[in-house]
Amino acid sequence: MTNQPEKTPDSMPDRAAYVQEMFGRIASRYDLMNRLMTFGQDRRWRRFVVRQAALSPGGWLLDVATGTGDIAFEARRQVPGLRVIGADFAIPMMRVAIQRMDTIQRANGTKPISWQAADTLRLPYGEGVFDAVTSGYLFRNVTDIPAALREQVRVLRPGGRLVTLDTTPPPRGLLRPFIHMYLKLVIPALGRIITGQADAYRYLPESTLGFRTADELAGLMCDAGLIDVGYRRFMLGTMAVHWGRKPGFANSANRAIKNGAL
Ligand SMILES: C[S@@+](CC[C@H](N)C(=O)[O-])C[C@H]1O[C@@H](n2cnc3c(N)ncnc32)[C@H](O)[C@@H]1O
Repeated sequence: MTNQPEKTPDSMPDRAAYVQEMFGRIASRYDLMNRLMTFGQDRRWRRFVVRQAALSPGGWLLDVATGTGDIAFEARRQVPGLRVIGADFAIPMMRVAIQRMDTIQRANGTKPISWQAADTLRLPYGEGVFDAVTSGYLFRNVTDIPAALREQVRVLRPGGRLVTLDTTPPPRGLLRPFIHMYLKLVIPALGRIITGQADAYRYLPESTLGFRTADELAGLMCDAGLIDVGYRRFMLGTMAVHWGRKPGFANSANRAIKNGAL
């Protein structure tokens, strides 16, 4: 039997291809790993993301890089009647989301979320059509953060909100060595046991420690044209939820474009 060479971001033609392929491999165990790595706290942060998006029934939410749909489902739970599109370029991740939705559909007969294949750098939606755009653990993975932000701002209606949850390099302090140990030793070991994909959970700490600081990401959001930008840290400063608003007020003409999207 020949050993397959391990895939790493450097052995793939580009980082986006690595990310897409890697999430495809870990899809079936992704949710379990999230719960374990965050001690179940990720659910609380996603609730906070949705609250920051300030959505109302009948409104439109785009959850980019939706993965297995945790934020999209939470949004529908908090705001019944919300219209939600979950978009991602890793189809196996969205298959898990679709299975979860089938269970909901069987229970109450509604089809609350539309799942669509899309690259976050080229969103297939018109300008100004969403009341909010959310994402979880996306920006750490994209090759061009300013371009991804511009694209999300483009599809937001004036006054609409962008809210994003991601890991963030831990701040300086006494706990930093322990946080590094958790990221570099515990997470890869857990990832190997639970998913059998050690590289994916070595990539997570590497991409976290190499990611923009929370202040830098807030700066990029301002550069992309957002106002009222802010963020809040969680879990010893290793997670952050950032938010911002597109200047202006809603334009009802644009919103007609969305009819029929779900
Ligand atoms: C860590 S998962 C996060 C999933 C989900 N948002 C959550 O909060 O659990 C990152 C997701 O981003 C997606 N992703 C990364 N880059 C992307 C891109 N350029 N376009 C679309 N999806 C992307 C991956 O396919 C993956 O499903």
